[in-house]
Amino acid sequence: MIHNIINFSNVSVIRDNKKILKDINIDINANENIIILGPNGSGKSTFLKLLTRQIYPSYTDDNTICKVCDQTVWDISALRHLMGIVSNDMQYDFNFEITGYETVLSGFFGSIGLFTNHKVTDTMIEKAKQMIDFLEISHLQNKYMNIMSAGENKKFLIARALVSEPKILVLDEPTNNLDIAASKKLKIILQKIIAHKTNVICITHQVSDIIPEISRIIMFKDGQVFRDGVVNEVLTSKNLSSLFNIDVELMKNQEGYLII
Ligand SMILES: Nc1ncnc2c1ncn2[C@@H]1O[C@H](COP(=O)(O)OP(=O)(O)OP(=O)(O)O)[C@@H](O)[C@H]1O
Ligand SMILES: [Mg+2]
Repeated sequence: MIHNIINFSNVSVIRDNKKILKDINIDINANENIIILGPNGSGKSTFLKLLTRQIYPSYTDDNTICKVCDQTVWDISALRHLMGIVSNDMQYDFNFEITGYETVLSGFFGSIGLFTNHKVTDTMIEKAKQMIDFLEISHLQNKYMNIMSAGENKKFLIARALVSEPKILVLDEPTNNLDIAASKKLKIILQKIIAHKTNVICITHQVSDIIPEISRIIMFKDGQVFRDGVVNEVLTSKNLSSLFNIDVELMKNQEGYLII
């Protein structure tokens, strides 16, 4: 059984002679729902690229650990039963004439599109349909991804990530480009996903993305972990003001958190 989804110690990434991630130490268990919060440019997407193996730590020494699902070397498509990923880049990757339905099916192969060597089984078709129903997007399934709205497109990418029944779903800026109603609906979908036993790591710069199921918050600032702890303790006006370098006040209402 996989216990640690992410096990990073002293992980750094250098670009243009600058550490854009500095000695990151993060352990994440498979049974946690987490928000990774930080301002623009704080290193959140770079951290996600380490998870997907698009990039590697810039150097390693005896103190460096960079494991995903207990493995130092991994192929994200082989790990898709453990971790499903919806990154911002994927919206561009799937910006062509591929239907929503085909996009979801491609999740079984970890590919961007379906190819002749992909053997689509009845079980896969059944599972893809289940996920499409679960996300309430069956009326859109024959539409091409490049003409869908951002919100429609995102739901198909989530369904694609979920077909392999991962233990954990990682989303980068899930409500980016979504209007208020679409953001609210997406948060309800995330709650449904968690209720169906897939945990969520949500990467964002917005406190409004925090749903009640999220118990832990990791704050990124200037490429470092600025705070890491229980939402109720760490999510404070003081910490947020330091995080964003601007005086803010945290409010909470029945819809969730907001800052003013
Ligand atoms: N390949 C690269 N070369 C040079 N600088 C880079 C590279 N990739 C990222 N950076 C820089 O590293 C910093 C962190 O970028 P990253 O995309 O991880 O931030 P982020 O927290 O995801 O921000 P946002 O909220 O805007 O998405 C930024 O200053 C960015 O310009
Ligand atoms: Mg980003």
